[in-house]
Amino acid sequence: MTDARKLLADLEWQVGFGADEAVGDVPTLSQWGQRRPDDIAAKAGQGSPAATVIPASVISAAPKPEPRPTSTFRSSANSVEALREEVKNFDGCALRHTAMNLVFADGNPAASVMMIGEAPGEDEDRQGLPFVGVSGQLLNQMLSYVGLSRTENVYISNIIFWRPPGNRSPTDAEISACLPFTERHIALIKPKFLVLLGGVAAKSLLHTKEGITRLRGRWVDYVPPVGSGLDHPIPCLPIYHPAYLLRTPAAKRQAWGDILQLVKRLRETNDLKNKE
Ligand code: URA
Repeated sequence: MTDARKLLADLEWQVGFGADEAVGDVPTLSQWGQRRPDDIAAKAGQGSPAATVIPASVISAAPKPEPRPTSTFRSSANSVEALREEVKNFDGCALRHTAMNLVFADGNPAASVMMIGEAPGEDEDRQGLPFVGVSGQLLNQMLSYVGLSRTENVYISNIIFWRPPGNRSPTDAEISACLPFTERHIALIKPKFLVLLGGVAAKSLLHTKEGITRLRGRWVDYVPPVGSGLDHPIPCLPIYHPAYLLRTPAAKRQAWGDILQLVKRLRETNDLKNKE
């Protein structure tokens, strides 16, 4: 793509998020962060925007987790590499037999943000890396606008490590088989913040039946299961899956508000510097 076409594509994408004003020659994150949510809410006449501080009352009104299913299996891998080997040799999920490759993780294991999606698609299966297809490109684009990237401050994985045939949704049994590994994965990475991409990741890790439309945009605690090796909850933000945003451009505004909430927290903890 030429520079001009790329700029136009970026502009189109930002308009999709509700941007309707150029604030300076070089738009800065602080301008987006401070102006956009209010503008969006005011224009939509909707009261408080998604990206404002969440009052404690809202956090405490977060969905109560369902009773935890008891799983006897716990991974005790003591490094990310060891966990990868354990998953590679795991024979308890039939998807490994139809997939081309294991898709384990990508990004910086020391990142403050860990993102978890659903399951690999065709491109991911071919390359053995998560989120490298079109939805991954959208995700990269969203992250780049706020100074986040897999090379620096984001680590990314999926609930399911192998592509379900024909990209069907993973079954409950497949999710249950893979979940102890993901829980151990989180314990080993120990991110400051977890971002759950879409309903499957959110329902599986938060042990709730609530849909992503209700869950998204609200900080909740990810409570690690006993025996996962993590002894504290992690602030967790469910957001729409990028594949959903590709199908439903109108939802991009909400997704943008959600990303700004993440940015706000990262700035508060000095994990993300203001862009000048
Ligand atoms: N969708 C996902 O949930 N994960 C991927 O890795 C790719 C697409």
